[in-house]
Amino acid sequence: MTAFVRDQWYVAAYGREVGRELLGRTVLGEPILLYRTEDGRPVAMSERCVHRRFPLSQAPSRLDGDQVVCGYHGFTYGTDGGCVSVPGQQRIPRTARLKTYPVVEQDSFVWVWIGDREPGDTLPPRAPWMDSPDYTVVSGMEPIDSDYGLLVDNLMDLSHETYLHGGYIGTPEVAETPITTEVDDAAGIVYVSRHMDDAECPPFYAKSTGIKGRITRWQDVEYHAPGLYLLHSRVAPDGAPGPNSDGSDPHAFHVEVVYGITPSTEKTVYDFWAVARDFALDDQDVTEFLRGNNHTVVMQDVVALNVLQKSLDTEKAGYQELSINIDTGGVAARRILARLAQEGAATPAPAVAR
Ligand code: FES
Ligand SMILES: [Fe+2]
Repeated sequence: MTAFVRDQWYVAAYGREVGRELLGRTVLGEPILLYRTEDGRPVAMSERCVHRRFPLSQAPSRLDGDQVVCGYHGFTYGTDGGCVSVPGQQRIPRTARLKTYPVVEQDSFVWVWIGDREPGDTLPPRAPWMDSPDYTVVSGMEPIDSDYGLLVDNLMDLSHETYLHGGYIGTPEVAETPITTEVDDAAGIVYVSRHMDDAECPPFYAKSTGIKGRITRWQDVEYHAPGLYLLHSRVAPDGAPGPNSDGSDPHAFHVEVVYGITPSTEKTVYDFWAVARDFALDDQDVTEFLRGNNHTVVMQDVVALNVLQKSLDTEKAGYQELSINIDTGGVAARRILARLAQEGAATPAPAVAR
């Protein structure tokens, strides 16, 4: 199993999912309750009532103003997690308090901090395309029944597009073209690039951009371990000029593929996926095409990883994997995750729950 990395920000939900209904998510094994206060602030706290552990996201638990009323015997909690009333007595036990989690709403995600330390000045990594007026976004979330490490592996090695996603985003060139990998150990970022000239245009891009014929296709991956994965995808008609020195790139179509990778339990992970494009911004047909096509692609990964995890579960301990050049990014990611997990484990936990 891939060790959990604590003391990090994780995507718990899209902002649109957090409202005046109680939402439950399990992040790094911690059941978390999410909702929005009457003035619009997202809050996150333990999802288990301190009394008999009833899940507070489940009916008939409910919001009363900004307070959460447990649906079992009515323990009531404020936004700071403190219990404000219990049934049948005036005295509220001092320990009647839910753990709360630091929350940041940024780039259309609601991030929660899972850890033993406070985040201090640390902010989640950015995915500014998610709510930029210059991009149109389709997005969703699929839970996967696998170790989150399998999703990281999957995303770090896009050669699988050729085989698993043939007819959608995969073409022969993806698997054929070697990658370059760079690792920023201090920042915990892995970069993987694959630049393809004179490549077949897969339906995902042919139908959305309208390009007829072959393309130049760049895939520049940027994985911010542990929880955010970015794929900067650039597609242009073959032979079109490249980007200008000032960074502008008028001859190409750009798609920013964003994944929030959020470990839920040891063998489940939330796959928050999004596709942001900088072309055909108001074209509803393109939006619906990309939504459907990408959802199909995501489900191909979900099915594959579910199967893979089941298969790995039957392996005897000590099986030996074989890694080749295409795995350089994934192996680097594993190394960073292992280091971060160890650093988190080395942090002494505070004695009191917040
Ligand atoms: S379990 Fe919540 S009040 Fe009893
Ligand atoms: Fe995939």
